[in-house]
Amino acid sequence: MTVTAEPSLATLFDQSNRHDPYPVLAALRSAPRAELGGALVVVGDYRNCSAVLRDPTVSSDRQRSLLGATFGDSPDKVPADSFLSMDAPDHTRLRGLVAKAFTPRVVAGLEPRIRGIVGDQLTKAGEASAMEVVSQLANVLPVTIINELLGVPTGDHDILQDWSHRLVRGLDPATDIGDPIVVADIELAKEGFRLYFADLVAFRRARPGQDLLSGLVQIEQDGEVLSEAELLATCALLLVGGYESTANLIANGVLALLRHPEQLRVLAENPALASAAVDEVLRYDTPAQMVTRVARREMEIDGVPVPINGVIMLLLAAANRDPAVFADPDRFDLRRTANHHLAFAAGPHFCIGASLAKLEASIALSEFARRVEAPELDEALLTYRPHVNLRGPERLFVRYDHIRD
Ligand code: HEM
Repeated sequence: MTVTAEPSLATLFDQSNRHDPYPVLAALRSAPRAELGGALVVVGDYRNCSAVLRDPTVSSDRQRSLLGATFGDSPDKVPADSFLSMDAPDHTRLRGLVAKAFTPRVVAGLEPRIRGIVGDQLTKAGEASAMEVVSQLANVLPVTIINELLGVPTGDHDILQDWSHRLVRGLDPATDIGDPIVVADIELAKEGFRLYFADLVAFRRARPGQDLLSGLVQIEQDGEVLSEAELLATCALLLVGGYESTANLIANGVLALLRHPEQLRVLAENPALASAAVDEVLRYDTPAQMVTRVARREMEIDGVPVPINGVIMLLLAAANRDPAVFADPDRFDLRRTANHHLAFAAGPHFCIGASLAKLEASIALSEFARRVEAPELDEALLTYRPHVNLRGPERLFVRYDHIRD
């Protein structure tokens, strides 16, 4: 589509831009702009995004924003009351409890299991000469890993995946969030999660295991540090956070590699570049395209005023292609150095699962590059998820000659 000189946020949310939102994002990056009568300020350049993320005077408690009822309400409750939407000291307390489960040592210990899942999925796909990457690889890996970490029984993975998918529509501050059917669907998914985890928590109280949920239940039982509501919200946050964006990262990565066959070859020949490849995918096709913050004081961003409780929308995907920071930013280049992208945000809410997501994607992408012979993307069948914030393909078909051992 053609981007007008004054793109609005509505242009970004237009479904016709799902296949390529980057021209609109580039236009939105040129300067901060006030929307909704000044209650919302949209920021897309790297310098300002990075500064706001690290600013201790901005808040993540979006429910109390000026736009709470019409804009912040649904996104903020994804999932309800999780520490994603809290500030210090509650944020620090809850994040500290969960962070222990994601130390580099714990994450490194998951490598054999991740390799096993990726290996099995590719071997199964090798029985045919085509695969649908989202369902056969990108979804399966993060869903299995996060469910196993939390101790969710295998038979329940599908229903949780379905709820998660519905719930993240609430992260889109788009017009269709006002659609009563979409809103009702999100509410049902939230309630599904709450009831499900309430049951699982009760079960783990009676029969603790080695999983993360049992660990959190133990903390709750030991004292006042973690309430039951916080515990349930944390479970849903980890499940949704651990699954949706990682699945999109893997699918976005396979897509970028297939569209740049020379880069795919570079990765196949240099598996040591896997981690750099993942950072380049995170920068080039950012899975979580935006985050929001709330001003707790009157602010100005490059001359644009933000009122107290005004919402600041940070377009991470635009900042990650800012030419002031990244040379030739629209080029996909695995050998890029000093790739300090903002795909996992920055500051106190920096993604807690970043190293897990990177490990999963490094193994998935490098094994895909190494094992799949002569892969060819079917562009005509490529479709995108409707989500604006959590960006990724819905269906991604690839044909190939063979999948080697
Ligand atoms: C490619 C994969 C991922 C991406 C792009 C991603 C992105 C992000 C971003 C941008 C934030 C900051 C949100 C904000 O500041 O408002 C965040 C926070 C968070 N992420 Fe991730 N994430 C990914 C994978 C994961 C995984 C695997 C987990 C867990 C297993 C996870 C759990 C979380 C949690 C718990 C938070 C909240 C942190 C806080 O509020 O202190 N994420 N993520």
